[in-house]
Amino acid sequence: MALTNFLIEGGAPLKGDIQVSGSKNSALPILCASLLIDGPLTLRNVPDLEDVRFLLEILRLLGVESVRNQDGSLSMEVKDTTQTVADYDVVRKMRASVCVLGPLTARRKQAKVSLPGGCVIGVRPIDLHIKGLSALGAVMQEEGGYVIADGSNLRGGRVYLGGAYGSTVTGTANILMAATLAKGITIIEAAACEPEVLDLANFLNRCGAKITGAGSPRIVVEGVERLTGRDYTIIPDRIEAGTFLIAGAMMHSPIRVRGAELDHLAAFIDAFEHAGARVTVDPDGALVPHLDKLVATDITTLPYPGYPTDLQAQMMAMLTLADGISVLTEKIYPDRFLHIMELNRLGGHIRKEGPTAIVQGVKGLSGAPVMASDLRASAALVLAGLAASGKTEVLRIYHVDRGYEKIEEKLNAIGARIKRVEA
Ligand code: EPZ
Repeated sequence: MALTNFLIEGGAPLKGDIQVSGSKNSALPILCASLLIDGPLTLRNVPDLEDVRFLLEILRLLGVESVRNQDGSLSMEVKDTTQTVADYDVVRKMRASVCVLGPLTARRKQAKVSLPGGCVIGVRPIDLHIKGLSALGAVMQEEGGYVIADGSNLRGGRVYLGGAYGSTVTGTANILMAATLAKGITIIEAAACEPEVLDLANFLNRCGAKITGAGSPRIVVEGVERLTGRDYTIIPDRIEAGTFLIAGAMMHSPIRVRGAELDHLAAFIDAFEHAGARVTVDPDGALVPHLDKLVATDITTLPYPGYPTDLQAQMMAMLTLADGISVLTEKIYPDRFLHIMELNRLGGHIRKEGPTAIVQGVKGLSGAPVMASDLRASAALVLAGLAASGKTEVLRIYHVDRGYEKIEEKLNAIGARIKRVEA
């Protein structure tokens, strides 16, 4: 992959409408759910991201054909059910590909999926995924860096998915998908409540599953014989929406963020308002950020409906300019702070104390070359670059392309000055 960077000329005010794309973290498990389904299905509002393209390639190798239609929708159909291996080379590049484990185990009765490696934001084990599938009667083995599942006796079961860091989003997705075809009743306790889990359940029910309680900590699934393909529209990306609202606030620009789902942003908006910003809603539903004066505030990331860890880095970028000292505590990924050193290179005044970052507000940021490390940290560096005086070069922006659709095109269309340059 050619190394590309963003060259950002800071200080430009923003003006106009910016459109939120479909949710990456909803699309990825729903794409994996195609493995459960007989017949053609069409998904709308699937964002065109690196991670989506990559997962579609994995699914192609697993016998799922997909095509992007003229109208942007994605048509998919399982053409071959013989493959059951997702190898290390693909899973190590994207943890979400672990979501093929549940569907393969349920629909093809076996799966061999590489254990995901660690990643820069934390260890990210899948012990709860394995525990959940075992509770449904799958025989699980770990061998040579792979998890191997035998789902020939899959049946409903009861599982508690709470871990030391709360529930697991992709773990809940894996168990939920497997349970749709497992004979009998499955009860998932301490299920993840993220909107993306509810979106997956709504999609599966549209295809004939019998799921109740999704979006709450207790999900009940009655297994069915088969699922048939239907049309479905993915929810908007709440993390992208929050990222754009922060951009507007940092640039004192009341941009109009279109297509977001306000109900998915309650914790974010609560924190945003504590930091002296506020959000108004236009008659057509666009969210407009307003900033009176940035004041320091404390944030603790928690499982939904708590403050999302995926908006921690972006909020930190905004709080580098707040009056006072802000304390950001990570309860999901205690090491998700690689952006601290980079924000300090731009003039931030931040230090890490274990799972906590202490941010002392500064008057302004000044441009410098900085290094992207993970998807959301990269977004935070783009935000900081917009606000910094002078030029900021964000290196390795392929991280951004994984999770934000055409981010520089969207931001430049409302006044930002971002150039994509070859390293
Ligand atoms: C999902 O990851 C998201 N990814 C992440 O977004 C998000 O940060 C995360 O949920 C938390 O909200 C997708 O949905 C594709 P977890 P996931 O399993 O499901 C521990 C982004 O930027 N855990 O909910 O893989 C784990 O170590 C990405 O878009 C176990 O201990 O995360 C972590 O501390 C980054 N055992 C916590 O739970 C397990 O078996 C949450 O992990 C599984 C997880």
